[in-house]
Amino acid sequence: MSIAEIYPFRPPGRPLVPPIPPRAPDNMTVFGWMRRLRENAIGGWREQAYEADIIQGRFLGSSSFILNTPDAIRHVLVDNYENYTRTPAAFRVLRPPLGQGLLVAEGRAWKHQRRTLAPAFTPRAVTTLVPHMLAVTDETVAKLKQNRGEGVDLREIMQHMTLEIAGRTMFSFGMDRHGATLREFVVEYGDRLARPYLLDLILPLSWPSPKDFPRARFRKRWTAFIATLMAERRAAGKKDGAPPRDLFDLMGDARDPETGESLNKAAFTDEQLGDEVATMILAGHETTATALFWALYLLALDPETQERVAAEARALPVDAAPDLDSLKFTRAVIDETMRLYPPAFLIARAATAADTIAGRPVKRGDVMLIAPWLLHRHRKLWRDPDAFLPERFMAPAPPPDRFAYMPFGVGARVCIGAHFALVEATLVLAKLIGTFRIGLLDRAPVMPVGIVTTQPDRSPMFVISPR
Ligand code: HEM
Repeated sequence: MSIAEIYPFRPPGRPLVPPIPPRAPDNMTVFGWMRRLRENAIGGWREQAYEADIIQGRFLGSSSFILNTPDAIRHVLVDNYENYTRTPAAFRVLRPPLGQGLLVAEGRAWKHQRRTLAPAFTPRAVTTLVPHMLAVTDETVAKLKQNRGEGVDLREIMQHMTLEIAGRTMFSFGMDRHGATLREFVVEYGDRLARPYLLDLILPLSWPSPKDFPRARFRKRWTAFIATLMAERRAAGKKDGAPPRDLFDLMGDARDPETGESLNKAAFTDEQLGDEVATMILAGHETTATALFWALYLLALDPETQERVAAEARALPVDAAPDLDSLKFTRAVIDETMRLYPPAFLIARAATAADTIAGRPVKRGDVMLIAPWLLHRHRKLWRDPDAFLPERFMAPAPPPDRFAYMPFGVGARVCIGAHFALVEATLVLAKLIGTFRIGLLDRAPVMPVGIVTTQPDRSPMFVISPR
């Protein structure tokens, strides 16, 4: 079967409108809504959430606000960000795997960690990591070349590849011996412990919920595993004065510009460095794999756009490191993919003190919901919001408003790995589409499911053929 026979999904002369779950009905009970939230938060929003500026609701004695206006979002994430922390449920779920790492730290501890780690994620530092990214991508391409026309699960392949990239950029060594165990940890936590249960939401943080016990047991095994990886990396050593070769060197060399403290010195224990290592591996690999999966899915549905990416990728030098400036359309495809399927579909914050937002009183404990999923498809913020149109991210189109398009968040706590992720996703997509024509074996739509990230509801089988 040729690929052309498999996927005429995009109607001729019109943009592709990829699948989305139906909106929630208007008359849902609180329990119906909670069930939806646990099963698929993306399917829990009503049509109104895509049209209104601010929606106020009540949940378990507190108010919750869905914020869809730039001013309100700026207030919570930029101007008054110190008044808003992660929610108690987020702390419960994130602390066992991430400890006191950057993503969960608050206040002075967070400021110190952010300042110390920032130099490891500058565009210049990321450039030193690109050879690791390219090596892993080339290995993936070589394996895929052995495919003889049978269906391939590109979602699983992207998850393994981004994990291998995370491991190699962190430690310089391959994940062949540890990758399977690491993946098992991720899947175990994601499937059994990462979803907040009712008591996780109701109980105060100082009271353990029933799920906190297995979470604590998980943390013990997980931190021991991360410590093994760090010990192996330390045994491989680093020559004094040698340039950093991976994130572990970059993070170890980094110093707080104000205090001069480094993550490897007494100010940080091994456990804290382990938390940062775990944070970077976990926060980075599943999100990037998700973005790549949806980009490949969209391109399989839209052959015309796929050919444009392939043409750009063909112009890349074979032996030299690719120049990202020459991959503008590929990058626009990644940007548009993360608009339609933002891997982090929801950013939630809890108020630590009373405040006022858009003239409405906010009490301590009230929850602010800023949902890239809603903002990116909001009727007032985008033209043709559900259509796949990468051109909207290329000149002469103006860049999108930073409070309307925010796959990496915005403000003080914006994703520290955003540049890393964009470089990785753009290079991988260009290499894959430059080498293979891809299509889908089955036509049934793949639906996004919002649990921790925006996952597909199943792993569709792709077909690939060398160009
Ligand atoms: C496509 C890939 C990625 C997406 C969509 C993404 C998304 C996000 C978002 C939305 C936030 C802000 C959360 C908030 O404000 O509550 C965030 C924070 C963070 N991300 Fe990413 N991320 C990605 C890749 C990465 C990578 C590759 C790394 C590390 C190598 C990383 C590390 C982090 C960390 C440490 C934070 C917390 C920053 C802080 O609180 O100061 N992320 N990410």
